[in-house]
Amino acid sequence: MTKKNIVLGFALAAACAISALPAQAKEKLNVLCAADEEWCNLMKSTFEKESGVDVSMVRKSSGEIFAHIKAEARNPKVDIWWGGTGDPHLQAAAEELTTEYKSKQIDNLLEWAQNQAKEGDYKTVGIYAGALGIGYNEELLKSKGLPAPKCWADLTDPVYKGEIQMANPNSSGTAYTALATVVQLFGEEKGFEFLAGLHANINQYTKSGSAPIKASARGETTLAITFMHDMVKQVKKGFPIKVVAPCEGTGYEVGSMSIIKGARNLENAQKFAEFALRPDIQSMAEQAKAYQVPSNSGSTVPEGAPKLTEIKLINYDFATYGSSDTRKRLLKRWDDEIKSLPR
Ligand code: G6P
Repeated sequence: MTKKNIVLGFALAAACAISALPAQAKEKLNVLCAADEEWCNLMKSTFEKESGVDVSMVRKSSGEIFAHIKAEARNPKVDIWWGGTGDPHLQAAAEELTTEYKSKQIDNLLEWAQNQAKEGDYKTVGIYAGALGIGYNEELLKSKGLPAPKCWADLTDPVYKGEIQMANPNSSGTAYTALATVVQLFGEEKGFEFLAGLHANINQYTKSGSAPIKASARGETTLAITFMHDMVKQVKKGFPIKVVAPCEGTGYEVGSMSIIKGARNLENAQKFAEFALRPDIQSMAEQAKAYQVPSNSGSTVPEGAPKLTEIKLINYDFATYGSSDTRKRLLKRWDDEIKSLPR
């Protein structure tokens, strides 16, 4: 090879390397999502299309996300946590794992969503709401000759041994809402007696909150404790699922969103937060078969969403049950006294 050829070769290689570089490094956003996968994906693709930002979106359960951002607190890699039950978002706010951001749209949000923001010193905000319930596979129930449950108290009846599924409250915000609900309904001691009775009938504690009703739709468990809107999703898909609002009353979630303290892509996280609170974006939820009540008063409530005004809701004490002390203490008590019991 001549000297001239070598120089030419280098020049060509350098030109190729330069042309392979993108004109500008792509903007990025790292999101942890605790809503159902289908909705997470729709949010990702819509935001990417609109903003040109490259979004990395991972679905995890609410309690898992809390543990994830706590573990990464010194060197956060996540920018924003979108979705999942409000209690761990409040705990994250109190532990300074998330950062204050007051949306320009705050005045357009429904009262419960604004209350969540106030409770968390604007380090979080409500994006949707939904009530907890009991769901069952009607065909399976009939074929097994089981009675239809109407109340929480029915679920400790030994006829349901091995027939009920719920998530583990450590990983799942849905299951933590169930734990906090029975404690608020019955008092802590009676609530834990109920949980012990329920445990005897549980066939599996899943990681994700909505998994039990999906399993019920497939005929893998007869009953499930999940949010009612997750049951509606299965009904809309054509499965024989019945939705029960428990007779004693029930708890609910304020699904929330929080920007992570020290987010590397803070501007994009704020951009995503505004996007996620917009009525046109919240109204897209139905496309992903998500039937929560949206937080912006201008959003369309999806057809078939359980009507919170028609359900006997408890006055869920978010300040107490979203506080670090109470959440930690109740989860530990559940691990020590319930999970370890024989079934
Ligand atoms: C489902 C529900 C959401 C809820 C979420 C919590 O996706 O549709 O409304 O916020 O579960 O998930 P987790 O796995 O933490 O119970």
